[in-house]
Order: sequence, then structure tokens, then C-alpha cells
Amino acid sequence: MAAKHPIPSELVAIFRSARRVAVLTGAGVSAESGVPTFRDAQTGLWAQFDPAELGTPEAFARNPRLVWDWYAWRRELVERVDPNPGHVALAALEAALLQRGAQFTLITQNVDGLHQRAGSRNVVELHGNIRRVKCSAEELVVESWPETGELPPPCPRCGAPLRPDVVWFGEMLPAEAFALAERAAVESDIFISAGTSAEVQPAASLPWLALDHHAAVVEVNPEATPLTPQATYVLAGPSGVVLAQLVKAVWPEAS
Ligand code: OAD
Repeated sequence: MAAKHPIPSELVAIFRSARRVAVLTGAGVSAESGVPTFRDAQTGLWAQFDPAELGTPEAFARNPRLVWDWYAWRRELVERVDPNPGHVALAALEAALLQRGAQFTLITQNVDGLHQRAGSRNVVELHGNIRRVKCSAEELVVESWPETGELPPPCPRCGAPLRPDVVWFGEMLPAEAFALAERAAVESDIFISAGTSAEVQPAASLPWLALDHHAAVVEVNPEATPLTPQATYVLAGPSGVVLAQLVKAVWPEAS
């Protein structure tokens, strides 16, 4: 039985009366599914590459085939894993809140698509999605392309190399997604920051924005982060355990 993570009774009460809840997730929420966090050591063949080196426009311009293969490896890894109880708890939280006429927005920095696979519906992807591919010149998503054996495949419309539809270091976040995330943070009664080191901007500014607009900010992380000292509630533990216990404490019938 997982260690008990007591959920403060006043937090339970706040959830039961909440009208607008927003959640920001990071790689830590997928860690219990076996997906390495962005800063974990890469395993196997890719161990010698530094993720911060490969996830950049410069790396893609320098060696498109290497970057394409690295993302193909990560896509294959993600296809092999399943959502964990933390993803499932967030989907249950959304369903319970919607049932009560409240609003719920799940903002994720993760690119693995596991929230959607767990049943979450209102998901705002700040850093894109590794399962999508776009044209590196037109920036338009490409659903399918002729298998020519060439890697990266050429865009079927313009011939430029295709690339993963994810945000690379130094690139701007999708403007519409970030605007949605900011609005959700400003309007939230409760803002949960789960599984993120709360260090990478601009996503890391969202919990602070929520705090500035008098939301109760709940941090879910086994480790301390720069947000921890200011968080209204700190639930120190793995998201797969803590989020499940949070939903169970607030709505026993929903979990
Ligand atoms: P990080 O790898 O920076 O941080 C992962 C966080 O998850 C850490 O604070 C861990 O303590 C925590 N953690 C680990 N296991 C956990 C668990 N079981 N439950 C809850 N928390 C756990 O990942 P992110 O914060 O997501 O950007 O990184 C943010 C962005 O930096 C990423 O989206 C990526 C990276 O550069 C891009 O790819 C553009």
C-alpha cells in the first residue's frame, strides 16, 4: 500500500466548492509511466547525446536525420508505455468537476500524449506533441506522407524536411496555447502544479500568475522546487499516488 499522503481537510473543502481548476503538468507526471524526465540520463543508444543538444532548431539544421531518429526513438518509447494513476486521477478530477458545472483546464509541458490517452479532454499542449509531425518550412501539421525511404521524409506539399511538432529550446511556444494557459491561471480558484521543476519559462510563470490572482496553488512533487516556498499547499510525493489520493479524498465516489 503506498504511503499515506494526508490531504488537508481545508484543501478538500476548497476543491468541493471550486468553480475553476487549472493544472500544469511536467515530465514528473509521466515518470511513473517509465518516461524519463527531460533531464534524466538518456538510456541505451542515445545515452551519449545531450537532450538539450538534440531538441533544438540548430541540431535539426545540422543533422536532420539524427534529430528525426532521436524523436522516432522517443515516440516508440512512449507508444510502449501506459498512462499511470496520476494521469487517470487528473482525468477523473476533470470529469467530477465538469459534472458539477465547474471548469477544468489541463496545461501540459509534456509531449507524450499520455493525458489524452488517460481520458483528459481539455488539454492545452504548451510544448506540442511528439506523436504529431509538421513541415519544417510551412509549420503545418502533416498527417501522412509517402514512404520514400528518405529520413526525415520530405513534406508532401513543399518538399522541405518534416519535423516533430514539438517546441524546441529557443523556439516560441504556440501563442494560442499559451494564451489559453494564462487565462486559465488567472481565472483559477485552484492551480495544481504537478511533476514540474517549475524552472523553464514561460510555463513556470503560470503558477505565479495564479498566486497573483489569489488562487490556492497546490504543488505535487517529491522534491522541492522554486515554487515550493510560495505554494499554498505542498503535497510532497509521487503524482501517481498523491493525485489519486486527492481525488479519493475530495470525491470518494469519483475515484
Ligand atoms: P524536469 O525534468 O525539469 O522536472 C521534472 C520534475 O518532476 C522534477 O521537479 C522532479 O522532482 C519531479 N518528479 C519526478 N518524479 C516525479 C513523480 N513521480 N511525481 C511527481 N513529480 C515527479 O521536467 P519539466 O519540469 O517538465 O521543455 O521540464 C520542463 C521543460 O523543460 C520540458 O517540457 C522541456 C524541458 O526543457 C521542452 O521540451 C521545450
